[in-house]
Amino acid sequence: MSQRFFEQVQHATLYAKSRPNAPPQLAERIVSFLREKYEGELELCLDVGCGNGQCSGLFASSFRKILATDISPAQIEVAKTLEHPKNIEFQVSPAENSPAEDGSAQVVVACVAAHWFDLPAFLKDADRVLCKNGVVALASYFLPIAVHATKSDELNAEIKRFYFESLGPYWGSGVRHLENEYADFSIPYTGTVRDEVWTDEEPYTLARLAADLESWSGYQNMCLDKGESAGREVLQEFISRCLACLGTTDDPAKVEFKLQRKYFLLMGRKL
Ligand SMILES: C[S@@+](CC[C@H](N)C(=O)[O-])C[C@H]1O[C@@H](n2cnc3c(N)ncnc32)[C@H](O)[C@@H]1O
Repeated sequence: MSQRFFEQVQHATLYAKSRPNAPPQLAERIVSFLREKYEGELELCLDVGCGNGQCSGLFASSFRKILATDISPAQIEVAKTLEHPKNIEFQVSPAENSPAEDGSAQVVVACVAAHWFDLPAFLKDADRVLCKNGVVALASYFLPIAVHATKSDELNAEIKRFYFESLGPYWGSGVRHLENEYADFSIPYTGTVRDEVWTDEEPYTLARLAADLESWSGYQNMCLDKGESAGREVLQEFISRCLACLGTTDDPAKVEFKLQRKYFLLMGRKL
């Protein structure tokens, strides 16, 4: 059963503002796996659960067309207002029943999304859509990783505390697959491959990290259940705890550290 948590326009707008684009190395790794067995033209990449297109653009220079689909009309509406390469077409569609034609795609990718799908139904549809030697790729990251000269452990403990304790009851069951980095996911092709791609350490501020956390579906679910002010309170508590562990009372927009993400990747090739 798929799970839907990204339906509000306000959430989709926040998502567009604060969520990171996937790193280019992720697309390079997927295309290089495809190229091990596929020599033809790269006609179509289907990006499923595309959100506002955080991963779609990475494939735009390699493929003639990217079909980027999402079940949430709000995510697609916002995606269409953003600047994207011209060869990306956005459409509202469930992962389990895509509008792509049989055998038409060389890559079907789901980035930070497959844990919300009805996975067997999605993989069946991906198999229908993929050409011979085409690749299905499931990628995601779990928690962002703070990097600080002396307080990395403390900051990362606060991120974990926010995720597990403050938002614990508000997560959909899909996140358990994130927590174990898709270890329990399998693709029914022989010779599937697991890999990981780390982003560079990116300069970040505490305010920007807090905006990321606001776009988490667990946080949005909490606000829907308990109201915006309850949400603001836990976010403010997160900020205060981070400031305390850094020993500062500065404006969060001026508190700097670095942030990294580990994308884990599961790929399979249709023979
Ligand atoms: C966390 S966002 C990921 C967006 C983007 N791919 C990224 O890399 O940030 C997950 C997206 O999956 C979509 N989604 C969830 N279930 C879906 C389903 N069954 N079919 C299609 N999209 C789905 C949600 O609407 C949401 O936009």
